[in-house]
Amino acid sequence: MDDANADTSSKPDHDAPGIRADWIWADGDFIGWDDATIHVMSHVAHYGSSVFEGVRAYETPQGPAYFRLREHLERLIASARIHRMELGWSLEELTEASCELVRRNALSECYLRPLVFRGVGAMGLDPTACPVHVFLMAWGWGAYLGDQAARLGIDAAVSSWQRPAPNTHPTMAKAGGNYINASLMKMEAKANGFDEAIALSVDGTVSEGSGQNLFVVHGDVVHTPAIDGSFLQGITRDSILTLARDLGYDVREGRIPREALYVADEVFFAGTATEVVPVRSIDRVAVGTGEPGPVTCVIRDHFATLLRGRSDDTRGWLTYVD
Ligand SMILES: Cc1ncc(COP(=O)(O)O)c(C=O)c1O
Repeated sequence: MDDANADTSSKPDHDAPGIRADWIWADGDFIGWDDATIHVMSHVAHYGSSVFEGVRAYETPQGPAYFRLREHLERLIASARIHRMELGWSLEELTEASCELVRRNALSECYLRPLVFRGVGAMGLDPTACPVHVFLMAWGWGAYLGDQAARLGIDAAVSSWQRPAPNTHPTMAKAGGNYINASLMKMEAKANGFDEAIALSVDGTVSEGSGQNLFVVHGDVVHTPAIDGSFLQGITRDSILTLARDLGYDVREGRIPREALYVADEVFFAGTATEVVPVRSIDRVAVGTGEPGPVTCVIRDHFATLLRGRSDDTRGWLTYVD
């Protein structure tokens, strides 16, 4: 091996500007970025055996605050339970660790990624001999669909891939393996020149985006697909349903046929990473006027105000880090 090769092999291959953070919480300890590695024989690398969360913390007048951290951690615990993983950490312990992570990394706004996965123990499909590890990562993550998305809207396409049927990949669990399907959708949409995909359910009705829930507005009525086992029950979805009702809109959960997308007045995506993003076209057909609509904008703006602690947190949705 010549010197140049020796040099290359000793270089860390996980230098990732944009998602780097000084400290990562790993099974109860704070460790440095370069130490937060896993072995190639980890069960998760072969079979997708992980469950995870995505939570955002925002800068508020009283310092950084997580939005609905409790509900996200409750869903993490539920996801682990569905996949028969013993977490070993309580909701309170994970809450404290999540807050300490923000303090240690001196972050004012961030995305938190709790990750639970099966490590090294055995190969094959019975993972019970593999230890369960819990990691918490936090980094400053900008707008998921781009800086202009919330203001200008994005272009979406109905995917040729569908969501898995209920009783196949449980969608109430936010499991790593589920996202192979979502990635196919996202890659197809991008390859065809769109920003995001819209997934249909097994019965051909509207399900959700590749990584966010979907809302369809007709007049003053805000529709979203009813829970059908085909999509993740988003915490943002729940927040938007609550907020829209507070704002006086008629909100309905039900089956949405694909063609309703092409005659909607407004369509928008909602999720933790995505936040609220108007959809301005679907399959190259303009949604409404092709501009973000008034109902979407009202909901988007009220939601942003709430996230940043600039309106009354009447439901206790913010967890202040300090
Ligand atoms: C497939 C999928 N649907 C919906 C959502 C929205 O969920 P939440 O609002 O809880 O982030 C996400 C994001 O986590 C997702 O990955």
